Amino acid sequence: MALPECAPVTVVDHPLVQHKLTLMRRKEASTGEFRQLLRELGILLGYEAMRDLPLTTVQITTPMSDMKAPILAGKKLCFVPILRAGNGLLDAMLELVPSARVGQIGLFRDEETLQPQKYFMKVPRGLDKRITIVLDPMLATGNSAVAAIQMIKEAGAKDIRLVCVLAAPEGISTFCKAHPDVPLILAAIDERLNEIGYIVPGLGDAGDRLFGTK
Ligand code: URA
Repeated sequence: MALPECAPVTVVDHPLVQHKLTLMRRKEASTGEFRQLLRELGILLGYEAMRDLPLTTVQITTPMSDMKAPILAGKKLCFVPILRAGNGLLDAMLELVPSARVGQIGLFRDEETLQPQKYFMKVPRGLDKRITIVLDPMLATGNSAVAAIQMIKEAGAKDIRLVCVLAAPEGISTFCKAHPDVPLILAAIDERLNEIGYIVPGLGDAGDRLFGTK
């Protein structure tokens, strides 16, 4: 499928990412293994999503000498998991940036229309001054991510990225048309969506696998 013009879509092809993703996809992976692997992938994807954070320098003294050393320039971050599966990536992001703020967006998918229904939103004030990283392991139809990012744009966010584990080409296409300004960071682009909007080959229902609810 030809993808529309949009902000960069980065597929992190690092061997560790691909290895962990394969382990997670296996239907015999336990809830604990799935959760742990999602967290580990979150760290690697988060590292890539924050690759362009602005730096400044500070004067420090090492045991050997004075030096001017790089440090984050103070642009604040906000992580926004889309409930509930997005929570599986949150701890990883907070491990990388413990001082970040956290918002939450609750959307469920109407299984007939596949359209997202909003049931919760709480985000910090001043999103216009932060880099906002939205988290959702699965970009399937793209409808939830489109709605969530519309909601945080309405709340003021301007500099936004979306971190997912897996995407379907259909989801990327829908997402890029709606939000061509938002870069996407992924571990893989799968083959297609099935007739009920699940990614194939995918990994099944990320929320159920993360929380052991099936
Ligand atoms: N949500 C999931 O958890 N898995 C899919 O394949 C699609 C949407």
